[in-house]
Amino acid sequence: MDLQLSGKRVLVTGASKGIGLAIVRAFVAEGAKVAAVSRTSTPELDATGAFFVPADLSEPDGPRQAVEAVLAADPRLDVLVNNAGGGVPPEGSLADPLDGDDDVWDYVFGLNLSSAVRTTRAALAALTRSRGAIVNIGSTSSRDPRGVPLAYAASKAAINAFSRGLAEKVAGDGVRVNVVTPGSTRTHMLEGKDGYGAKLAEHMGIDHATLLAALPQQSGMLSGAMIEPDEIARAVLLLSSATMPSAIGSNWVVDGGNLRAA
Ligand SMILES: NC(=O)c1ccc[n+]([C@@H]2O[C@H](COP(=O)([O-])OP(=O)(O)OC[C@H]3O[C@@H](n4cnc5c(N)ncnc54)[C@H](OP(=O)(O)O)[C@@H]3O)[C@@H](O)[C@H]2O)c1
Repeated sequence: MDLQLSGKRVLVTGASKGIGLAIVRAFVAEGAKVAAVSRTSTPELDATGAFFVPADLSEPDGPRQAVEAVLAADPRLDVLVNNAGGGVPPEGSLADPLDGDDDVWDYVFGLNLSSAVRTTRAALAALTRSRGAIVNIGSTSSRDPRGVPLAYAASKAAINAFSRGLAEKVAGDGVRVNVVTPGSTRTHMLEGKDGYGAKLAEHMGIDHATLLAALPQQSGMLSGAMIEPDEIARAVLLLSSATMPSAIGSNWVVDGGNLRAA
């Protein structure tokens, strides 16, 4: 299937590992020219040949500076993927039913919501010129906030509302906005020794490996297995493709059957 992504200019945030890295690899495999943003690069990202722009997107000016650097190298932009997010809960916050004080909520919203809003703000004019596409990465926790920090679930619910509202506003300019909503996916966030999964296991007083093994069943995934990042990337590519002109304001869940209909 030709997704007509060859030669397209794509910006992916949170690109150094996990879902973002899989998205970069998938676009590169289709012949797209990818600009990759995260705080640091990795050998795996370097190997893709993507144009790397370092930025801390949780800082108020990080997204604007990153997008300006990308557009200075190439003023055309066809696709923006707002993937950066997740983050490690600050010390002690998992023990607090409200996740801690305003600093925690500000940090989580800064990384998971404001980074996407600010990156989109900086990139929208270029995307409007190309009649391009935006794909935001949500989370099943937006609809099933059990077992995750409330601030994270709330920030992802906000991503859903932001995306749907923006889709309405910019569809007339030819820009399509959609969301991909992953369930538990095999990345550093869950599997890394310093990621969220490890912190959660520590908080629960269980072995990290035991938590990971139990996660699919505990979270009600009908597939019985964590999701591979490549699968999320395939959904992102399809939504980014001009061969899907009717995919507007949609939210594609890739969760192993975890979410039940409301
Ligand atoms: N894994 C899951 O189970 C799962 C499920 C649902 C939704 N998601 C969502 O999927 C997205 C990707 O998560 P992942 O699992 O792939 O996480 P990951 O493996 O931890 O990767 C996160 C990526 O974001 C970058 N990043 C983190 N903080 C950043 C910052 N302040 N500025 C710029 N880049 C930053 C990281 O690079 P640096 O550290 O170098 O900056 C890395 O490239 C997130 O939005 C997450 O909420 C994940």
